[in-house]
Amino acid sequence: MKVLLGVTGAIACYKVCSLVRLMINAGWEVRVVATDRALDFVGEITWRTLSQNKVERSAFDEQDDWHPRHIALADWCDVFVIAPLSANTMAKLAHGLGDNLLTQTALACTKPLLLAPAMNTHMWQHPATQANAATLLERGATLLEPTEGDLACGVTGTGRLPEPEVLFAQLQRFSVR
Ligand SMILES: Cc1cc2nc3c(=O)[nH]c(=O)nc-3n(C[C@H](O)[C@H](O)[C@H](O)COP(=O)(O)O)c2cc1C
Repeated sequence: MKVLLGVTGAIACYKVCSLVRLMINAGWEVRVVATDRALDFVGEITWRTLSQNKVERSAFDEQDDWHPRHIALADWCDVFVIAPLSANTMAKLAHGLGDNLLTQTALACTKPLLLAPAMNTHMWQHPATQANAATLLERGATLLEPTEGDLACGVTGTGRLPEPEVLFAQLQRFSVR
């Protein structure tokens, strides 16, 4: 299976490193498309090494291939998973913005979309975030709800990214389709 993994600026990026290992060990091909903020949490060299592929950051980078990068990535993948999905990027997806490679690719992608939001409880419960989640669900995305527990921001509540094994099991469902 060819998995395009979108990563955004949330603490839970560290958990997704283990998800990449699980996918590579399963023999899947993984490409990481990262927002600039995601790379503040886990650096490019980690994503590149774990995914065994160059990290995709911008459609405007110099490249050998003439195809626009967002179109090429959307065509390449079997499934597009965005984990962790920040409140900010979720809002952009819900409103159809394409201001970076990740959001441009999401607009161009017709493959199954799996979203795994992770954030502070109040961010998750904010009416804007809830409305954006509902919009994306309505449009056919699969939403893996954040779980309850201790959050890195110091509070206990809903907002945790599910464990890498749970994300992997969810992705396996797409590989047998
Ligand atoms: C220490 C720290 C932790 C953060 N954790 C989260 C988070 O878990 N979820 C979230 O939605 N935003 C979080 N943010 C805010 C996002 O990083 C911020 O909204 C950023 O603009 C998201 O950019 P992106 O969506 O382009 O990746 C955090 C910010 C900081 C400084």
